[in-house]
Amino acid sequence: IRDHKAEAAQYISDYIVDRIKTFAPTPQKPFVLGLPTGSSPEGIYKRLVQRYRAGDISFKNVVTFNMDEYVGLPRDHPESYHSFMYKHFFSHVDVDPANINILNGNAPDLEAECIAYEEKIKHVGGIELFLGGIGPDGHIAFNEPGSSLTSRTRVKTLAYDTLQANSRYFSNDLSLVPRMALTVGVQTVLDAREVVVIITGAHKALALRKCIEDGVNHMWTLSSLQQHAHAMIVVDEDATLEL
Ligand code: GLP
Repeated sequence: IRDHKAEAAQYISDYIVDRIKTFAPTPQKPFVLGLPTGSSPEGIYKRLVQRYRAGDISFKNVVTFNMDEYVGLPRDHPESYHSFMYKHFFSHVDVDPANINILNGNAPDLEAECIAYEEKIKHVGGIELFLGGIGPDGHIAFNEPGSSLTSRTRVKTLAYDTLQANSRYFSNDLSLVPRMALTVGVQTVLDAREVVVIITGAHKALALRKCIEDGVNHMWTLSSLQQHAHAMIVVDEDATLEL
């Protein structure tokens, strides 16, 4: 628990830098990092970029897999997760574009795209550290309430709560928010050797309580982390209001 959002973000970015350095990745044995979007991780990316600019860390031998992407939104739309990632992170560090993996929400065969994504993850030896955030309904990636806890990368219809929460990026117009997304599954996240999640703000306090104090439940998909051997949730004081 950190006092504020900024300190939570700083803690996580410094933690990730340490993990990558200790791992000492090479082209043959890259560090495989799962990445989220959303306002919560923005501070994490900002600090990672600062550490890169200070010469503290290189992302050259880091392979990334993003958690999710909207279906049907053009890749260069300002609110696509592709755009988000380049704007906040990829354009500012030395990550090799060939090492960046983001689901293509405009693929002609979405199901095949999801299967290929899982294969790619397997091919690089699995994800070392999956960084995530949650929605106010406790979803991780776009694993909405009711998602199977053994789910894998797939097409998901977004919950009304998520459409509402994300409408802030679409001129507060619910009708402009894409209805579907491609998302890694709960099991895809759980398969990572380590999972780190950032949760900040009073609007996520109920989700935090449901996910860590109640039992494992597919209606609050983050609760599945209770069964992960190496998981860490970093929160600010506001998010602890219901604990
Ligand atoms: C979207 C993403 C999630 C993310 C969530 C939280 O729903 N699919 O992966 O965790 O937004 O966003 P924010 O951090 O802006 O609250």
